Parts: sequence; C-alpha cells; structure tokens
Amino acid sequence: DVNDISNPDDLLVLCNKYNKLSSSYVPNDLVKVDSNYSTKSNTLKKEVYEAFLKLADAAKLDNLKLLVGSGYRSYQYQSGLYNSYVARDGVIEADTYSARAGYSEHQTGLAIDVADGDKKYLDEDSAEYEWLVNNAYKYGFIIRYTKNKEAVTGYQFEPWHIRYVGVNVATYINSNNLTFDEYMARIMAQVMRNFSHERIKHLKDVVRYLIPVKENIKTTQSSSNIKYSSNKNENNLKNKQKISYQEQKRHDQRN
Ligand code: DAL
Ligand code: ZN
Repeated sequence: DVNDISNPDDLLVLCNKYNKLSSSYVPNDLVKVDSNYSTKSNTLKKEVYEAFLKLADAAKLDNLKLLVGSGYRSYQYQSGLYNSYVARDGVIEADTYSARAGYSEHQTGLAIDVADGDKKYLDEDSAEYEWLVNNAYKYGFIIRYTKNKEAVTGYQFEPWHIRYVGVNVATYINSNNLTFDEYMARIMAQVMRNFSHERIKHLKDVVRYLIPVKENIKTTQSSSNIKYSSNKNENNLKNKQKISYQEQKRHDQRN
C-alpha cells in the first residue's frame, strides 16, 4: 500500500515509506549551492537554498559552521547509494537508515544533510546539532528523523537531516513535538472533516486555516526541545550506521 506522490513540487510534499516519487521526477528550480556553503557539488530547490543561506549565516554569528553535505539527490543517485548500503549491511539494516530510490526526501530538493566545518555530518552531541534544535525552525527547517520516533518516521534518528517546510509549519511542528508524518496526518484529518465540500488545490490553502500564524511566530524555544538532547548514550547510532561524508564521497567517485 504505497501511494504515488501527486504533488511533488509542493513545499509540503510528504515523501516517506508509504508515499513515493516517480523515477522521472526532478524539481524544476534546482540551484547550485555556493562552494562556501557546501562540502561538494550540491543543488537544492531555490527557496530552500535561500533559507539555508540565512540559517548558515545566523549560525556563523554564533561561531558555528553549517554546510550542505548532501542536498538534492536524483532517483538514480539514490538507487546507487541505497544499493551500496545493502551490499554492505543487508536489506533489513539498510532500510532502517537509507531510503530506497523514489522514497527519499532528497529527491524533492527540500532536504539537506548538514555537515560541520570539518565536512562531517552532524553528531548528536555536537554544538551544531544543538543549535539546529533551537534555531532551525526560525528559518523554516525541521529535524526530520527525530529520536524515539523511529516507529513513525520509519528511520533511525538522524541529527544531520533537515527538511524545509517553511517558517509557519516548522514553528508549529517544533512547538508540538511532531514529526512531519504526524503533522501531515493531522492536516489530512482536518481536510476530511472540514473541507470535503471544497476543492483543495494546494495544501497551503488548508494549512492557512490550521495555524494561527501570529501566535506561532512569537513562539520561541519549546519544552519539547529538551527531549532531543536527553539520553545521549541511549539509542546511539552504531558507527557503521552513520552515513559519513567520506563514504558518500567514495560512492560518488565510483559512480
Ligand atoms: N537517510 C534518508 C532516510 C534518505 O536516505 O533519504
Ligand atoms: Zn538525509
């Protein structure tokens, strides 16, 4: 029971283990990430790139360097990446940390694997990750695969993977301690209850009714943030499950 995604260009597109992109889908407004903000050649959707620049510049003011380690990934690239993880760890394990081709948010151009100044993907214990937990939503990003939500997201905790959803939705998700999957489930339930008589063209038309924009913009740090940094030793990723920059680089060189 997997759905074909019908709104791949929507900033609120839900791409997960139950909703997949077409193999031919490529975002139409990809832009190249400046090398000062990236560990390698990367592209992102334009709006996401602009938001990331603001995020990275704000982090810089706090003496932290945030780089795009991996942005948009084509269907073919994801396919090669996933297959290399299967070859290394087997299907069952690979499925806990890597999306299959068509199922990766990276194919939407809305997701970023964030690296630090040493070009390493963010660690749970890093100051950069803590900064993201406290600030990413202000620039429209959420941490997509949060801790203790593996059963909801279908993936292990990834401190480095952020997803652009826009400031209002990111603020709402952050202050309610939701995953994006749970947020979309709420939206869809609301649609069924209240909007069945209307034709909904864009999800943002629905979202407008659900989020009291002014209230949420005032929201600062939520108590839910504390949960992200607790239990540091529990649930630590095994080393081999960490997707390192080096490894992706080796993969890039092979392909
Ligand atoms: N690591 C995430 C789930 C991906 O492969 O898109
Ligand atoms: Zn990622």
